Amino acid sequence: MKMRMKCKNVQLMKHMVTAFAIFLTAGVSVPLASAADGARPVLSVDDCAKCHDAAPKAIESNGGKHKTSVTCVDCHQGHPPDKTDIIPQCGMCHSGEKHFQLEGCLNCHKNPHTPLAITFADNLTDPCLTCHTEQIEQLKQNPSKHTELFCTFCHTKHGEIPDCTGCHTPHAPNMVQSDCLTCHKVHMPRQVAYPDDISSKHCAACHDTAYNLLIASPAKHKELACAYCHKSQHKMVPKCQDCHGVPHPDGMMQKFAACGDCHGIAHNINK
Ligand code: HEC
Ligand code: HEC
Ligand code: HEC
Ligand code: HEC
Ligand code: HEC
Ligand code: HEC
Ligand code: HEC
Ligand code: HEC
Ligand code: HEC
Ligand code: HEC
Ligand code: HEC
Ligand code: HEC
Repeated sequence: MKMRMKCKNVQLMKHMVTAFAIFLTAGVSVPLASAADGARPVLSVDDCAKCHDAAPKAIESNGGKHKTSVTCVDCHQGHPPDKTDIIPQCGMCHSGEKHFQLEGCLNCHKNPHTPLAITFADNLTDPCLTCHTEQIEQLKQNPSKHTELFCTFCHTKHGEIPDCTGCHTPHAPNMVQSDCLTCHKVHMPRQVAYPDDISSKHCAACHDTAYNLLIASPAKHKELACAYCHKSQHKMVPKCQDCHGVPHPDGMMQKFAACGDCHGIAHNINK
């Protein structure tokens, strides 16, 4: 108990190791795994926590598979002063996958005793691509200003999804975060597409002229949503004939170039 407390101090720890070696050779009983043939004892996993506090606690609380699939001594083979170089390379056990060829495992997996507590440095994209490929394809095939950003500009913690509204002001005051994704896909934000039932109010945020004209019009078009006519894709413009076919006799139509010559515009039909 006393020993464990002192071990928190590195200077003291160094003395302890010397003392501990002497103790053992002198055959003084310390509560460690017993030695074969009176030689220095081989440390077992149960011994580690007698002197080390942080590592066993970290593994116990958040060790993941480093708790369940390996032990302290699978990684730390030997111990000072007999063996000084006892910090394992990750590659000793993890190899063969693209992800395991990255440099600086501990930059993200800060503590090997809590391997899934991951932190990202700033300005990362390439390391993410060892596992995620779909997003970079969308970003590259549909160039936008998002393509120029690092993945970690938006995803500062692993698995965390940011709100658009954290960085952008909505087009209208009545627009909220969940509306953004009805028109935009984040990894291809300029490819605006939307469902047929999207509220015309969202279009009005930028097209108030069209909106105001339509709702003031007496014709039946005003019952229709913008997206009923401008289907699916932004800037799609329908032809009258797509919905109405050719409603008048050929003779009549031949004299006029366009439906609009008599009916005006779609947003304000003359009957
Ligand atoms: C009797 C106390 C004691 C026990 C038991 C003990 N250690 Fe240590 N350990 C120390 C001390 C003291 C140091 C510091 C040694 C030094 O810096 O020279 C140390 C250092 C280490 C280091 C760091 C080495 C480095 O290069 O920085 C590791 C890793 C380690 N111990 C792992 C273990 C493991 C795993 C066990 C159980 C198998 C264990 N220790 C059991 C006292 C102990
Ligand atoms: C999956 C491999 C692995 C396992 C399992 C593991 N360690 Fe470590 N340990 C490491 C690595 C790698 C480092 C070096 C970390 C660094 O450089 O930041 C380390 C560092 C240490 C250190 C020195 C730094 C510190 O955190 O104080 C001690 C002591 C230590 N381990 C003890 C233990 C003990 C005790 C256990 C079992 C409860 C254990 N380790 C289990 C890989 C492991
Ligand atoms: C002595 C072997 C050994 C060493 C050294 C080792 N690991 Fe592991 N690690 C394992 C094993 C075994 C698993 C479980 C693999 C599995 O089930 O697929 C594992 C799992 C992991 C996991 C997933 C954990 C989970 O709970 O899913 C991460 C992350 C990881 N290791 C990172 C590292 C890093 C980073 C290093 C170097 C600091 C390292 N490992 C060193 C043996 C090791
Ligand atoms: C840029 C940050 C980053 C770096 C650098 C990094 N990792 Fe990872 N690693 C991750 C993330 C993120 C995960 C996914 C964790 C999850 O599934 O929740 C992961 C998962 C893992 C896993 C478990 C899943 C699997 O594929 O088996 C292991 C093992 C692992 N890393 C080992 C390593 C090793 C070894 C290195 C160095 C060669 C390394 N990592 C470098 C971020 C990183
Ligand atoms: C070792 C493989 C690995 C690496 C490297 C990795 N990830 Fe992941 N990532 C995963 C896995 C597996 C999941 C799904 C499991 C989960 O939700 O934790 C995931 C989930 C995610 C999610 C959440 C997905 C959702 O549906 O909520 C985001 C966002 C993400 N990763 C971004 C990144 C970014 C950004 C990087 C680079 C800085 C990165 N990942 C590096 C394996 C990895
Ligand atoms: C972490 C901040 C951040 C988040 C979160 C974010 N963006 Fe952006 N976005 C930017 C930056 C920075 C630009 C470039 C601005 C500039 O250069 O004027 C940008 C540009 C855009 C552009 C214009 C693209 C171009 O090429 O002109 C659209 C559209 C856009 N974002 C939509 C979204 C949507 C929708 C979401 C949520 C799904 C979102 N953004 C989330 C930071 C962010
Ligand atoms: C402009 C900010 C931004 C950038 C840059 C960005 N993401 Fe995302 N990412 C998001 C948002 C927001 C979501 C949630 C999208 C949704 O819910 O539809 C997301 C979702 C994800 C997901 C979950 C699955 C999916 O596709 O919806 C993964 C994985 C992911 N991003 C990885 C990445 C990777 C890897 C990069 C870099 C190549 C990256 N992201 C770049 C903002 C961004
Ligand atoms: C009704 C569909 C729709 C909704 C909902 C929508 N957007 Fe847009 N957004 C657009 C269109 C269309 C453009 C492109 C205009 C152009 O071509 O210049 C655009 C452009 C942008 C731009 C580029 C700069 C600008 O203002 O022109 C950003 C940033 C953006 N949207 C963010 C958002 C955010 C954040 C939300 C959610 C609060 C959102 N959008 C909701 C359709 C929508
Ligand atoms: C963020 C603002 C924004 C939003 C929201 C928005 N638009 Fe647009 N829209 C624009 C801009 C900018 C243009 C290009 C205007 C120009 O070229 O003069 C445009 C052009 C158009 C055009 C004309 C294409 C052409 O060939 O002249 C149509 C049709 C259109 N939008 C329909 C819609 C519909 C329907 C919605 C709702 C689902 C919508 N817009 C939402 C900004 C927006
Ligand atoms: C996406 C389909 C669609 C498009 C495109 C479309 N309309 Fe219509 N239109 C309708 C529907 C639906 C009605 C209502 C029919 C009803 O209630 O009987 C209608 C009604 C009308 C009416 C009768 C108005 C009334 O109030 O009784 C006229 C005239 C008309 N459309 C002309 C046009 C012209 C001209 C164009 C092109 C500039 C056009 N439409 C484009 C679907 C469309
Ligand atoms: C009945 C179908 C229909 C409806 C409903 C409709 N439009 Fe249109 N819109 C058209 C047609 C057809 C054109 C091409 C010009 C024309 O012939 O009137 C057009 C043209 C446009 C244009 C480009 C020219 C201009 O007037 O600026 C914009 C922008 C536009 N519509 C936006 C909207 C918005 C926003 C709504 C909803 C408030 C809407 N439209 C509702 C059929 C419709
Ligand atoms: C020469 C002028 C003229 C032209 C050109 C014209 N229309 Fe008409 N249209 C009319 C008149 C007048 C009526 C009203 C007839 C009635 O009430 O019986 C009408 C009626 C309609 C109606 C039916 C309204 C209802 O209440 O049933 C539709 C739909 C329509 N037109 C669509 C079109 C389309 C689509 C075009 C272009 C292909 C077009 N029109 C070209 C003059 C025209």
